[in-house]
Amino acid sequence: MILRYFIAALATILVDGTAARSLYGWGLESKIEVQNKISLQGVLNNIGPDGSLAPGAHAGIIIASPSTEDPNYFYTWTRDAGLTMKMIVDEFLHGKHDLRPYIQDYLKAQAILQTVSNPSGALSSGRGLGEPKFYANETRFNGDWGRPQRDGPALRATALITYARWLINSRNRDNIQEAVEKVWPVVQNDLNYVAQYWNDTTFDLWEEVLGSSFFTSAVQHRALVEGSALGKKLGADTEAYDSEAPNILCFLQTYWNGNYTVANVGIEQQRTGIDSNTILTSIATFDPEEGCDDALFQPCSHRSLANLKVYVDSFRTVYTINKKAKTGPVATGRYAEDVYYGGNPWYLTTLAVSEQLYDAIQQWSTVRSLTITDVDLAFWKSIYPSAKAGTYKPRDRQWNKLLDSVLEYADGFVNIALKYTPASGALAEQYSRENGTAVSARDLTWSYASFVTMRSARLSATSNYPQVPSWGAQTIKSVPKQCVASSAVGVYKPAIKAGAPPGSGQCTVMVTFDVNATTFYGENIYLSGNTTDLGNWRVFDAFAMSANEYTQERPLWTIDVELPANETIQYHYLRSQPNGTWIHETKNRTYTVPPCANVIGGNVTIDDAWVGPVGTPPK
Ligand code: NOJ
Ligand code: NOJ
Repeated sequence: MILRYFIAALATILVDGTAARSLYGWGLESKIEVQNKISLQGVLNNIGPDGSLAPGAHAGIIIASPSTEDPNYFYTWTRDAGLTMKMIVDEFLHGKHDLRPYIQDYLKAQAILQTVSNPSGALSSGRGLGEPKFYANETRFNGDWGRPQRDGPALRATALITYARWLINSRNRDNIQEAVEKVWPVVQNDLNYVAQYWNDTTFDLWEEVLGSSFFTSAVQHRALVEGSALGKKLGADTEAYDSEAPNILCFLQTYWNGNYTVANVGIEQQRTGIDSNTILTSIATFDPEEGCDDALFQPCSHRSLANLKVYVDSFRTVYTINKKAKTGPVATGRYAEDVYYGGNPWYLTTLAVSEQLYDAIQQWSTVRSLTITDVDLAFWKSIYPSAKAGTYKPRDRQWNKLLDSVLEYADGFVNIALKYTPASGALAEQYSRENGTAVSARDLTWSYASFVTMRSARLSATSNYPQVPSWGAQTIKSVPKQCVASSAVGVYKPAIKAGAPPGSGQCTVMVTFDVNATTFYGENIYLSGNTTDLGNWRVFDAFAMSANEYTQERPLWTIDVELPANETIQYHYLRSQPNGTWIHETKNRTYTVPPCANVIGGNVTIDDAWVGPVGTPPK
């Protein structure tokens, strides 16, 4: 075994031409190399059409996990896929040329998915881009879900922009054409979405909390900044991006509470807001050419280091496997109050802590300066007890000691993830808080991707391995004094040359279905109809309506559905009974959606009243 690790590490040095600076991490490095290979393959196994664990997934579709029950993750999430593709593009840039077909397949799959109308809406208004997940065969998912999730378009844009920059910089005609004709049209829809909807409420990345999410705002900001720079190179109109990006940056500051970054704001639930959301943000918006910028919450910023300590500490006593460790690295999860599958540590969050710290080491090394202030002193003291506020340079005696203690601390989190990785190297979503065995979805794509990005970050921090490309954080001048909650209405077009179906993306109208239906507690009203948008009469694809405005005087059930202009539909309402049975209305209704041009404000309302038998409340 040891020899295998040794050879793997040696192989990396030969292949990548990198040599590790510190020797003490040698054993760890070889383990990382072994797990890295397994992890990259683990990702590829989950990508259609050829991935061994993704049978039936269309080309370029990245499933979240092969698990089809408990939990069923055999879907593609725009977020997981976008983050995974960013990793693949970065690996491609690092010389893995055989990954290019995966990028091109992904681009095509995303061009198609952008046009698939779904419960969040359609392409023509942009709303459909906020849908969190689709079936692996590129069709809509009608079930109840936390939607929309507005981080997806931004993450997809970031992955594709990184690829587009490479295409353009290659100065090859075909590549440039690929960037202009295929990549940009997909990216443009996503950027327009961000510029239009960034200030609307969203479900957070854990699909649980409706409000504003730090991760979402931050990745949206990054996407607009780099999207604007790319757009300018291509001669596109970037005014909306340039005007909205500073507004998002301004808003981003409101998540900082003086001690840590609050993951979700404007929400109803009571939560501390201490959440891996914020750690994942610092690695998703890391710019190796930027210094320790607090306003951008960069990995080495005082804010992000202080926050990292608060976050890690929140897990010391909640998991049995942490053995109440008062100091040092511990297993970490999404957030301490989590109960999903028992609320366990996650591989991707534990690895994210180390990745943030590796990114931070890169930044200090680049700027050749490290400053400790009151804001992050507690973090420093926790890993280097004699740390004092001040500025340190490479010539100072403490420089190496400080950086080494960060490296050692970061490595400790990788060691924990590895300790609880089964011998096969399979990475599930979670590992048990009681004993570290795998929990929830197996072979989670995002878990694997997080290992690969951690490994690159570590190599970049400890050797001359290339860094991930800058996204232009240095071009940002300052945070506006006055925050403006604005929105730039965008135009959305199917990216036909990238693979969107011809004729897709027609004009749509938002139709509000209002039905008066007196119901008893436990009874719910659904909408069903004869088109794909309405679930093709399939009861399990019917839309749950909202009773938020239901009163004694007006028993209103309501839902907004975006439908193609001029289309004639048939529909009726359903009642679900507490015992699982359904009562259908006795009449099918017919409705013709008006032409777009006739709709003021993009919205029409239908007023109906329930026709048919009613349910009997249980005794
Ligand atoms: C599924 C989501 O993906 C997960 O994040 C969440 O915790 C559970 N639903 C429970 O709401
Ligand atoms: C649950 C996680 O909370 C969510 O972030 C993720 O997108 C899905 N699982 C799929 O992996």
